[in-house]
Amino acid sequence: MDLKKLLSKMTLEQKLAQLTQVNANCLTVGASEDITGPEQEVSLTKADVASAGSTLNFENAAEGIRVQKEHLELDPNKIPLLFMHDVIHGYKTIYPIPLALGASFDTDTVEECCAMASEEMTVGGVHVTFAPMVDLVRDPRWGRCMETTGEDPYLNCDMARAMVRGFQKSGKVAACVKHFAAYGQSESGLDYSATDMSERTLRDFYLPAYKAAIDEGVEMLMTSFNILNGVPSSGNKWLVKNLLRDEWGYDKIVISDYNAFREMKALGFCETEKECAKLAIDATSDIEMMSPCYLQNIPQLINEGVVSEEQIDEAVMRVLRLKEKLGLFEKPYLYADPKAEEEICLCEKHRDIARRAAEKSAVLLKNDNVLPFNKNAVKRVAVIGPFADRVMLGNWLCHGKESEGISALTGIKGLLKNAEVLYSKGCLEGVNESDCSLVEEAKALAKECDAVIICAGEDYKMSGESMSRAELRLSPAQKTLIREVGKVNKNTAVVLFSGRALVLTDIIDDINALVLAWQPGTEGGNAIANLLFGEVNFGAKLPMTFPRSEGQIPAYYNCYRSSRPYEGPYGCWYIDMPKARLFEFGYGLSYTSFEVSAPELSSLTMNKGESIEVSVNVKNVGKMAGETVVQLYIRDDFASLARPNRELKGYKKIFLNAGEAQRVIFTISEEQLKFWSINNKFEAEEGSFTLWVNENGIVNETDGVKFNLLSKK
Ligand code: BGC
Repeated sequence: MDLKKLLSKMTLEQKLAQLTQVNANCLTVGASEDITGPEQEVSLTKADVASAGSTLNFENAAEGIRVQKEHLELDPNKIPLLFMHDVIHGYKTIYPIPLALGASFDTDTVEECCAMASEEMTVGGVHVTFAPMVDLVRDPRWGRCMETTGEDPYLNCDMARAMVRGFQKSGKVAACVKHFAAYGQSESGLDYSATDMSERTLRDFYLPAYKAAIDEGVEMLMTSFNILNGVPSSGNKWLVKNLLRDEWGYDKIVISDYNAFREMKALGFCETEKECAKLAIDATSDIEMMSPCYLQNIPQLINEGVVSEEQIDEAVMRVLRLKEKLGLFEKPYLYADPKAEEEICLCEKHRDIARRAAEKSAVLLKNDNVLPFNKNAVKRVAVIGPFADRVMLGNWLCHGKESEGISALTGIKGLLKNAEVLYSKGCLEGVNESDCSLVEEAKALAKECDAVIICAGEDYKMSGESMSRAELRLSPAQKTLIREVGKVNKNTAVVLFSGRALVLTDIIDDINALVLAWQPGTEGGNAIANLLFGEVNFGAKLPMTFPRSEGQIPAYYNCYRSSRPYEGPYGCWYIDMPKARLFEFGYGLSYTSFEVSAPELSSLTMNKGESIEVSVNVKNVGKMAGETVVQLYIRDDFASLARPNRELKGYKKIFLNAGEAQRVIFTISEEQLKFWSINNKFEAEEGSFTLWVNENGIVNETDGVKFNLLSKK
């Protein structure tokens, strides 16, 4: 397809239509009906809808094919629509939420999950997924923690790359990295609130994962809703034009978030929609999602000579190039295939991938000799709690349905063929539920059973967009349930469902065994059963710190040092509680134990441009085979700018049989030691560094090993 020729034939209105994205429900209203609902509020006309270049959130392949046909009949240039969707953790087969995937520390699993989602969405007729979401988070009050892979830039970069590879490897799907930039730092944990941070913090912590996705070849990028240092991302020329395009060399599509161009008015940044359009196009934003600022204002802006048609042409070419790359011009329906959609989605192979991902991402947080339960010894098992018979898919569940998934209760019943598995709800789901009237029945059941599983936590509808929480504790009813049941049966394990780090301080001492299952998806119940009964072992670690109290937020491990780190008068402490967080980043237990030897360095000095090796011996000293994550942390001891306490700079997920040992080797290069320096560039500074290697995120200052970075030889 000669795209330049095509562009030269297009009128300005047709070009602007390519830059406009409408919701599927605009396209599915009958031809004679008027536009109603939110679409009317954003004042899109029927003509705008008919000519739009892309759409989001379609139901299925058959509907997509019908709409594409209608569109092509009407479109004078026969340019097919691009279909986009939020395929965040699965299309129909839902795998664990991204935060859980972060906990897996397992990029192969993550890539496999995304490739599976990509296969399903392809036959479902979707061309672009609005994923990966790579916003770094330090505030669990923010509901969208569930969509991120956590608080660490190094891990987030790896996860971003794996997700882009998985989604795009077939060449049939484009991924869209979002939300550029620093949307995860919403002030007070409130969604859509402002972000304010130094350029240094932005560059060192928040930007690397977007860059990693770009370097991996992501085809699209979505700007964020938030104000960043005073400027909304949709119209932020410094962020999009200067940094993303000019500095990073990104020349693909930039799409806005939903209605975000127009929302620059509400943010007090633009007085009119015309101004929104001008700022957005000057920032080189291409597609406008669900608002008509470009359509309705660019012609006038061009007439006034303040926007050039070349700016529009550049944006349109980026859209046409993606349509061409995905093969839409030759095959407008591409691979949309209702029959294949029926066969492939939720097939055994895909369920298997989702189950393994759930097993690999669940974190064992506490275990006082309760787990694993003995599958052959238990005769009566109580499965209790508000989420025991729910399928905890996780928000952004795309076309996933609870009815097609496995609850913990079903999974446990399926595994235990010879035991009686009994259920009691214990209390209702509500975030502040205080009615404890169902607890007595649960207690009575627990008394008569030889193993008890309580499924608690937060409903998956309590995390996601606009789902901020000010308090992160379990509901009063859930706490009573856990306490009371634990009193009558010590052989009780709590399975916690959550889309964020919760505050468990006031209940942790009442729990003998605690499994963090996150929101595990379609196959969650089978994974939970396998983990609780020792069919598989735990190997995941926290990608996000669990604070002791909401008052510790932001709680993250790679913070700066204090001049007075001690607890006590004039120290960096709280007078009303310990400073230590409840569970640190990198923490997670196993049914076996691992010993990690003191790190050995190939050299105690390293010249710039060279590398050194650090190795440890890791031994499985327990009785069961299992995986763990060997973690390398480094601190720049002294620099021209203060550097964090420690930072993850490498990790390896390894599997060891009982008694087996393995030498784990990390290479340290100058790259890992770089930071956004006083000279406003990434560079490593000569001097002393300290490193630690562990497998549970726990660092003792005295275990550190020092090395020196010297100038180039
Ligand atoms: C969200 C995006 C999402 C978009 C389209 C917005 O409200 O912030 O993450 O991709 O809607 O559904």
